[in-house]
Amino acid sequence: MNTNSIFPYPFIDQIIISEDDIRNRVQELGELITNDYMDSEKLVLLGLLRGSVMFVTDLMRHIKRPMTIDFMSVSSYSGTKSSGFVRIDSDHKSTINDWDVILIDDIVDSGYTIHTVRRLLSDRKPRSLRTCALLDKVERHKVEIEIDYIGFSIPDYFVVGYGLDLAEKGRNLPYIASVDLNKYKELYGDAD
Ligand code: IMP
Ligand code: MG
Repeated sequence: MNTNSIFPYPFIDQIIISEDDIRNRVQELGELITNDYMDSEKLVLLGLLRGSVMFVTDLMRHIKRPMTIDFMSVSSYSGTKSSGFVRIDSDHKSTINDWDVILIDDIVDSGYTIHTVRRLLSDRKPRSLRTCALLDKVERHKVEIEIDYIGFSIPDYFVVGYGLDLAEKGRNLPYIASVDLNKYKELYGDAD
């Protein structure tokens, strides 16, 4: 494979959110959450695997309250398309009944994932339930949703990095970068 890309993945187009900008915004979100949960002794960050891992582990460093983490694994995506059908592949382990839960995903696209999982969790009677996403593609929403904590709103690009992937590639990048989908197709065929 002959590539002259300066990036470790040859299908990357450009950096759209730098490492510094992510670090600063994650710190701000942590401070916001710290303030909002001053009265809580039972806060749990519930991250969706695997995309939210880097975000959750960075965010928790900035939350100056007693808290814990748990994860769930859900899927609705294959390649770059959301199926609209959200499947629970693996559920969270600890009980959330009577806990203050913040459901965390890497990115909101159609909104189906966060909307569906939020509804499921609210049936489990947490003390409170909020949502948080590092990125939000507002113009792509297909369901009415309100996200309580958002890192950045972005245009309709397919992005990788800071946990986000395209067919499992790109998660380790410390920044958010847009993907050149034509280049990707040339290299690997259809992502779908
Ligand atoms: P939604 O259900 O359509 O809102 O999709 C949300 C899920 O799709 C996220 O958890 C991501 O895993 C994935 N996703 C959506 N857009 C992107 C993207 O641009 N890059 C990587 N993953 C994405
Ligand atoms: Mg995901």
